[in-house]
Amino acid sequence: MVRKILKYGDPVLEQVTERVTEFDTPELRDLIAEMWETMYAAKGVGLAAPQIGFSKRLSVIDISVGADETKKIVIINPEILSSEGKQTGEEGCLSIPGFREPVTRAFKVTVRAQNEKGETVELDGEELLARAFQHEIDHLNGVLFINHLSALKRDLIRRKVKKLQKAGEWD
Ligand code: NI
Repeated sequence: MVRKILKYGDPVLEQVTERVTEFDTPELRDLIAEMWETMYAAKGVGLAAPQIGFSKRLSVIDISVGADETKKIVIINPEILSSEGKQTGEEGCLSIPGFREPVTRAFKVTVRAQNEKGETVELDGEELLARAFQHEIDHLNGVLFINHLSALKRDLIRRKVKKLQKAGEWD
């Protein structure tokens, strides 16, 4: 089932999520399946559980947007072990549609996470994949990409979103 993606302003998006402690359950499998469906329907490269209302440390990433099955990554209880270098590029978020801004991130990261079965995995990513890891792990800590912008830019986006909310165009 394709879920509704919560938009900026919903408090769930700015909460620190809870660790996943039960693996290989029908509930977890269903949640992951719904996250893939929802992400592909929205043509995103990543989706975090809080974006569909589950405050859990779980994200899915596919930088091929469905073109390459081997690029599908599920990260549960992830942490960034190391990061290297810098990259600056335009970033957006399915929860803040219509807004894209340059964000500086590490160029390369190594992530430790658990997979659907609860097995610990280590994953390396560069460029777009590194950006996706950082963006999706931020979500699990209640951090959105606009938190990386200057206060001025962030306030501008906040004001525009408030206008859209008032007009009933942001729900
Ligand atoms: Ni996002």
